[in-house]
Amino acid sequence: MTRVIYPGSFDPVTNGHLDVIRRSSFLFDHVIVCVLNNSQKKSPLFSLEERVNMLKDVVGDMDNVSVASFGGLLVDFARESNVNIIIRGLRQVTDFDVELLMAQGNHMVADNVETLFMPTDPRYSYISSSMVREYASYGKSVKGFVPEIVNMRIEEKYNK
Ligand code: PNS
Repeated sequence: MTRVIYPGSFDPVTNGHLDVIRRSSFLFDHVIVCVLNNSQKKSPLFSLEERVNMLKDVVGDMDNVSVASFGGLLVDFARESNVNIIIRGLRQVTDFDVELLMAQGNHMVADNVETLFMPTDPRYSYISSSMVREYASYGKSVKGFVPEIVNMRIEEKYNK
């Protein structure tokens, strides 16, 4: 039984994330989507609980996907969950710069943990959570960037 972790900050989950989750769910027996803190991102739009709940909503039709959250290092979550494969999506070559370092760093501190990269579907390669937050904060619709339930939560947040 091959279980994998798909980690991220998911503030909020986008259609690009969902595509990687779905494709991973076809490849592996079980996918744990784990919400973690990214130290570069100081003030999240959605609380940890809101992010977890939105993820649970959008993966609800996938039997082999579960959602978790963790307050520490990704490699410690991997050890505690007894999983040694991490999936990360790559949208553009610029992602690779950051992702390679993170994968190598994680492997350095936990040599049983391997990171596998999944190229994002080109339909979603321009989408990022930060772009979604920025457009939404100026009142632009982010329909098409995010699952409908997330779009609704964003509209509620900005009181439309
Ligand atoms: O969606 P993101 O923001 O690109 O995800 C980055 C994330 C949350 C996976 C990464 O920052 C992370 O693993 N954070 C947990 C703390 C950790 O393990 N840090 C060491 C690797 S940078």
